[in-house]
Amino acid sequence: TSTDTEYDTVIIGGGPGGYVAAIKSAQLGLKTACIEKRGSLGGTCLNVGCIPSKAMLNNSHIYHQAKHELKSRGIDVADVKLNLENMLKAKDKSVTGLTKGIESLFKKNGVAYVKGHGRIVNTNEIEVDGLDGKKISLKSKNIIIATGSEPTPFKGLEVDEKQIVTSTGALSLEKVPEKMVVIGGGIIGLELGSVWSRLGAEVTVVEYLSSIGAGMDAECAKSFSKMLQKQGIKFKLSTKVIDASKKDGKVFVNVEPAKGGAKETLEANVVLVSIGRRPYTENLGLENVGIEVDDKGRIKIDSQFRTAKPNIRCIGDVTYGAMLAHKAEEEGIAAVEYISGGHGHVNYDVIPSVIYTHPEVAWCGKTEEQVKETNKPYRVGNFPFAANSRARTNDDTQGFVKIISDAETDTILGVHIIGPNAGEMIGEAVLAMEYGASSEDIARTCHAHPTLSEALKEAAMSTYDKPIHF
Ligand code: FAD
Ligand code: NAI
Repeated sequence: TSTDTEYDTVIIGGGPGGYVAAIKSAQLGLKTACIEKRGSLGGTCLNVGCIPSKAMLNNSHIYHQAKHELKSRGIDVADVKLNLENMLKAKDKSVTGLTKGIESLFKKNGVAYVKGHGRIVNTNEIEVDGLDGKKISLKSKNIIIATGSEPTPFKGLEVDEKQIVTSTGALSLEKVPEKMVVIGGGIIGLELGSVWSRLGAEVTVVEYLSSIGAGMDAECAKSFSKMLQKQGIKFKLSTKVIDASKKDGKVFVNVEPAKGGAKETLEANVVLVSIGRRPYTENLGLENVGIEVDDKGRIKIDSQFRTAKPNIRCIGDVTYGAMLAHKAEEEGIAAVEYISGGHGHVNYDVIPSVIYTHPEVAWCGKTEEQVKETNKPYRVGNFPFAANSRARTNDDTQGFVKIISDAETDTILGVHIIGPNAGEMIGEAVLAMEYGASSEDIARTCHAHPTLSEALKEAAMSTYDKPIHF
């Protein structure tokens, strides 16, 4: 019936950007449909990204602890063995549970879930090639593009998702590779490199730049790299991959120093290509409505997420900004609020980043390098977890909290944490920064004892005064 094909908002893509926008849109009383082609909701994040990678990180960490750490904690377990098949099943269970959960949320909120590939025909019409083989046409007052991103390919390396893999293949390897070469020492390379290293692979990360961590605070990157090396991960920094070839069930990767020099061949059973992700707009019909992309393939938008056609908005990985699920979600809500009430809010200055290794790395705001560039006086406070009672009690003391504040006003400019649970702890810093807090505000806030978060308080104390325990 026509009522089933006419909407106030149609969202193309059911990832964290798209599904959150869809739920919010329906909550605000707009008749809403969400088109998704992969056959399950949640996008990259839930199906092949955030969720399965965190399941593997968590369980590989527990395995590694059981094998190497429990004895010193007074727990004798005999015969710790990896059952990779079951670990992968546990991962799949977390994915299915959450993706099905979004289907329920759609039902609860009255969002129509349209399974298929959506293509924009004109500013108010989308054609869907249904997964059931049928074509349908949807009409809508507003369209939100949330089609996400895909792995950037490495020229000349053909991904087979078995031996030469992207993150997707690296989340489902059937066997622990003896040797793994990771191309790109960014977030994916470090997280998934950690997983397979803990499970027994000899992992070598080849990174073009002189430091790992894709833009994190340099002091943190240096310290983090030492910790990962101690765990057994090898790094080849300032190194360029030239090409790779498969022979006798192995992959041979040719590398050379980025500045030129002697070539070297690295042997691997599995090569992970993790050199970034790129916006995904294939067969989306942008040309039918004259919507343009920039030189990196990102859909151009204004501050209200509007494309060149004002009733077509765009959010998440497929447009500007950090490729993070929580960033996409914020934009999803804001874009719908612009449609519904004329206002939306995303504070791009305080979007947290977290690397879920052990220890975790988490940060928000500016790095020290970025603060330096502003030429304004600043102060740095630092507090090591080795001086935090809870970290010591847990015998998990690597890392530190670093706070950078404005030397005149004491306003917090950036917070950088390496340590156990850094990803949860950064939330407090994000909230403080959202409220424009000074480091003294955090220092004068009572923190429970003994908790890791006291390290944040003491780092704040050390920013404008002295800490107590160090
Ligand atoms: P996506 O999640 O990519 O969703 C887009 C959806 O649109 C896809 O499901 C796609 O099938 C669908 N689609 C595309 N074109 C069409 C079309 N024409 N018609 C119908 N459907 C279409 N971020 C974090 O914040 N934390 C993490 O821990 C984290 N871990 C990650 C780990 C890995 C291994 C990877 C690869 C990514 C990770 N990310 C993480 C990044 C995160 O997954 C993305 O930032 C997030 O998924 C972006 O959301 P999105 O909605 O913009 O796009
Ligand atoms: P990335 O941008 O984080 O890192 C890519 C790295 O590869 C960079 O360090 C870059 O210098 C290096 N590189 C690029 N070309 C190279 C080459 N030819 N040879 C050697 N090194 C090269 O990208 P990554 O790790 O692929 O992840 C993509 C995105 O997914 C991230 O930017 C992030 O937004 C998201 N993500 C987020 C996670 C989280 O929040 N915990 C986890 C995983 C992914």
